[in-house]
Amino acid sequence: TDLPREVSTGSLPNAERVAALMQQAHDQFASLDDGAVADYIPSLGTADPALFGLAIVGVHGDARAVGDADHLFSIQSISKAFVFALVCEALGHEQVWRAIGVNNTGLPFNSVMALELNGGRPMNPMVNAGALATTALAPGETAVSRWAFIRDGLSAFAGRELEIDTVVYESEAAANHRNQAIARLLQSYGHLPGDPIEVTDIYTMQCSLLVSARDLAVMAATLADGGVNPVTGRRVVGEEVCADTLAVMATTGLYEMSGEWLFEVGMPGKSGVSGGIITIAPGKGGLATYSPRLDAAGNSVRGQSATRFLSKALGLNLF
Ligand code: DON
Repeated sequence: TDLPREVSTGSLPNAERVAALMQQAHDQFASLDDGAVADYIPSLGTADPALFGLAIVGVHGDARAVGDADHLFSIQSISKAFVFALVCEALGHEQVWRAIGVNNTGLPFNSVMALELNGGRPMNPMVNAGALATTALAPGETAVSRWAFIRDGLSAFAGRELEIDTVVYESEAAANHRNQAIARLLQSYGHLPGDPIEVTDIYTMQCSLLVSARDLAVMAATLADGGVNPVTGRRVVGEEVCADTLAVMATTGLYEMSGEWLFEVGMPGKSGVSGGIITIAPGKGGLATYSPRLDAAGNSVRGQSATRFLSKALGLNLF
């Protein structure tokens, strides 16, 4: 059952109310057991489906967490939003818009058909084709320096040094033929600078970085705060880059379900196949959920329900 939708104000409700509503969301949706843990990356299939954590970090750095909010898992596709922001910061709005695109494909995140239907264009940075093309634009003379740019940038968003889960990385690297094929196809259309196998490898490393729901809430809060990490006080990207990133997340962050997400939640979000979802309330804060069971589009079932509940109860819908 949903609470009535609260009116949006300029800030999050007081800390006690936020904590009580998070607890209520956790209690209410912990019993949902629809969906399935992703196993096309073999090591993801070992995740405990009972895990469920929620975290909210406000733009003043105030943090609240419920459940398994400190459990570490690989960031997967949620990395795409932050790598896009970092590449926008480095290359600028026009170049990224032209090279990647910002429209929804209406097709699954790993679709090859989306590429073929659109003249080989990667379409947007949140699907695998666009994320590979975005990672290919990371500045650096060598693969090592391009990887350092990405890892250091994502760590600045999180406010701590992020590390790779080597088991997930090796498991995905041994099974990522489809992403290698997408990268090669992009190359054949002239839309992927650099070596497609090397780009796929860096992309696989970025997807394997370990985060908790609490880390993700800090990363989301950095986008909510116009690019300044509210916990460390460090500027990671500019305000305009945040606006660009949030616009793309709103149109494509939950893949072909992005319209329903915007209709129900009313905020930019980004999901990943390990079970995380981030949501940004601009000027207010970042919300992160973690629960590994996914729906058919690859979005966490409990995470979507909890976010929808909290958006309404905390008055976060932008519209
Ligand atoms: O490339 C892949 O398939 C994974 N590393 C990430 C996919 C993902 O998280 C899609 N999310 N729902």
